[in-house]
Amino acid sequence: MSRPPATFATARLFVRPAREHDGPSVFTAYASDPDVTRYLSWRAYERVEPLSAFLRDCIAYRERHHGPFVWLLCLKGTDTPIGSISLTREDPGRATFGYVLGKKFWGHGFATEALCPLVDWALAQPDIFRAWAFCDVENIASARVMEKSGLQREGILRRWQIFPALSSAPRDCLAYAKVR
Ligand SMILES: CC(C)(COP(=O)(O)OP(=O)(O)OC[C@H]1O[C@@H](n2cnc3c(N)ncnc32)[C@H](O)[C@@H]1OP(=O)(O)O)[C@@H](O)C(=O)NCCC(=O)NCCS
Repeated sequence: MSRPPATFATARLFVRPAREHDGPSVFTAYASDPDVTRYLSWRAYERVEPLSAFLRDCIAYRERHHGPFVWLLCLKGTDTPIGSISLTREDPGRATFGYVLGKKFWGHGFATEALCPLVDWALAQPDIFRAWAFCDVENIASARVMEKSGLQREGILRRWQIFPALSSAPRDCLAYAKVR
């Protein structure tokens, strides 16, 4: 099973793994903002230390074949994260994606720009047949990112994921995928 690239570049982004000292900049860029985490499976961080611990885990996950692989998105020419993207291969034959951006970077197509090359990478692997992601049924921006990245809407996963900012009960999600 091959690992995805450690770093890659797009037209505007340099995408790299998290490092131990990224905690404070990730906290400031997006992870402490409840507007950002509204449709995420985790709550906004109130302190940097637990976030730094999570980033340390991400570094360790990289050593595993199935990840999750978490990258930080930096504007080219900078080393400061504006968001992140993840790829998980826990299910045979599938790659699952997730992404998040700091609020002031919404609406510029950055998530699509980061997702497209990873979808291409995934479907070029002999053992990956399905690149997919899901979002809350009300997360219109995320659904558009998936569409613009070439994933097709498959339907609604009922009661699929808990988004703690919205409800303690799992909510319906939209599933999007590209297969080969
Ligand atoms: C979801 C997210 C990553 C989108 O990234 P982005 O780089 O801002 O996305 P884009 O710039 O490609 O814009 C998203 C599209 O959704 C549209 N959109 C955004 N909010 C919308 C809304 N409320 N209603 C309708 N369309 C909306 C935009 O117009 C754009 O469409 P267009 O390209 O056809 O004009 C970003 O909003 C984010 O980080 N949100 C918080 C975290 C999150 O929800 N992550 C996804 C979890 S599944």
